[in-house]
Amino acid sequence: MSNERDRLLPTSNGRNYAQDDISQDAHARELRAAKVRAVVHGLLTVLFVVGVVVFVVLGFNHDWPWGGRLPKDPLKAAQKILDAAPVIDGHIDLPILVREFYANNVSAVDLTGAMPAHVDIPRLRDGKVGGFFWSVYTSCPSDVGYDDGDDFLNATWRVRDTLEQIDVANLLIEKYPDTFQAALTSEDIKQAIRERKIASLLGVEGAHQLGNSIAVLRQYYALGVRYVTLTHSCHNAFADSCGIFEKPKPLHDGLSDLGYALITEMNRLGMLVDLSHTSDATARQAIKASKAPVIWSHSSARAVWDVPRNVPDEILELIGTGANKTDAVVMVNFAPYFVAAEGNATVEAVADHVDHIAKIAGKEHVGLGSDFDGIGDTPRGLEDVSKYPQLFALLYQRGWSRYDLAGLSGGNLLRVMEGAERVSRDLKADGAAPAFDLYDKRTDIGKKRDGRWLVSAGEGEL
Ligand SMILES: *[C@@H]1O[C@H](CO)[C@@H](O)[C@H](O)[C@H]1NC(C)=O
Ligand SMILES: *[C@@H]1O[C@H](CO)[C@@H](O)[C@H](O)[C@H]1NC(C)=O
Ligand SMILES: *[C@@H]1O[C@H](CO)[C@@H](O)[C@H](O)[C@H]1NC(C)=O
Ligand SMILES: *[C@@H]1O[C@H](CO)[C@@H](O)[C@H](O)[C@H]1NC(C)=O
Ligand SMILES: [Zn+2]
Repeated sequence: MSNERDRLLPTSNGRNYAQDDISQDAHARELRAAKVRAVVHGLLTVLFVVGVVVFVVLGFNHDWPWGGRLPKDPLKAAQKILDAAPVIDGHIDLPILVREFYANNVSAVDLTGAMPAHVDIPRLRDGKVGGFFWSVYTSCPSDVGYDDGDDFLNATWRVRDTLEQIDVANLLIEKYPDTFQAALTSEDIKQAIRERKIASLLGVEGAHQLGNSIAVLRQYYALGVRYVTLTHSCHNAFADSCGIFEKPKPLHDGLSDLGYALITEMNRLGMLVDLSHTSDATARQAIKASKAPVIWSHSSARAVWDVPRNVPDEILELIGTGANKTDAVVMVNFAPYFVAAEGNATVEAVADHVDHIAKIAGKEHVGLGSDFDGIGDTPRGLEDVSKYPQLFALLYQRGWSRYDLAGLSGGNLLRVMEGAERVSRDLKADGAAPAFDLYDKRTDIGKKRDGRWLVSAGEGEL
């Protein structure tokens, strides 16, 4: 605060001190100051006019959609925003649909025409999709009738089936090179979007697909997988699940020792830790253990609709970029039974989930993971991938800015991916070794004595 200003302050007797005695000197100073103010004002005005001209000229240029005014019609405004920042969906189940409807025969699949469920190329284009994770999924034991036993040691076909799903996804991506582009990194996604392609990534939906083996995780990474969901709706050797509608009895009370080793290895690889489907204990422990940002590839808010598959506020509160918080993106699931009461799942209800997660965790921590092609039913107003702009129009009307919406559509996911890529680079630069932890119930490899694996030769028989 300057002295001049101080003198203009009222005195304790209520009168303005400055009115009592302003010296000639003070008058001269006032005049000089006024001149300086006039010059500064003039300069600022010129700058402002130049700024407006640049803004208007560039704003009407369609290559630069961040400037200019958005159309009055909310849907048109949403479409314009999504042209610049298209949707990157965290979870689409097209590969399992191809298994179930086409017996994995990719030649029989025509994505240029109307597909049986929610996803095909014309609708992806209508919906302003710029990328998605192709979920490569195999069922939990209760769903398929093969029982992997209490210790998860019975042989299963899950690794084969996961490889078949990866094969289906990769062949479909290759089949439509003008539409899809395989992406492995956040930079690849941005590159694909610049070329007006749909960036295509792979996500494994459950560590039950790893055959209890961290080596299998590494090989999935090598095949292009960029997230692994720690569980599906069954517990596995690494972590506890939240089940679907009823919480199952905990097995590990969160992560097992092998689960912690899995997260360490995921961080080193740059494989995103996905917490959809996990129990609350698993999610809390994983958030704490992970050095990298985490995701929920397809989960909504439990405070809006109370099912175990949705994320509770206490966990949303752990997300953020401040002290003691973990960066993350919660990508909202559209499955009607996770959105609202029967008959009440609508695009408005999905927007409520988005708003709630934004309220608790922040707008920088919410995204979309529709689960299209993996759900039988869909919300009213969000029937398939062509409908994302409807959700954006609604949120725009609710006061979301174009920048907030660009974060929701994909920017937040990209930030989280970049974070995980950075952590991986740093860990590798520090010489972090691959994890060689074995599932301790295995008896087919190595020998254990006093709780330690024997690594020297000569203990086994060849
Ligand atoms: C796969 O689909 C193509 C196209 O419909 C068909 O010609 C071919 O016979 C199918 N292959 C098998 C093994 O069913
Ligand atoms: C799986 O293992 C359990 C023991 O944990 C056994 O009772 C069951 O019969 C096995 N199932 C199959 C299909 O082998
Ligand atoms: C963060 O956690 C540390 C250790 O638990 C605690 O001392 C500190 O107060 C926490 N900071 C905030 C901002 O919560
Ligand atoms: C479904 O929506 C209607 C209309 O908003 C509301 O009256 C009803 O309570 C909702 N049902 C449930 C179970 O929440
Ligand atoms: Zn799922």
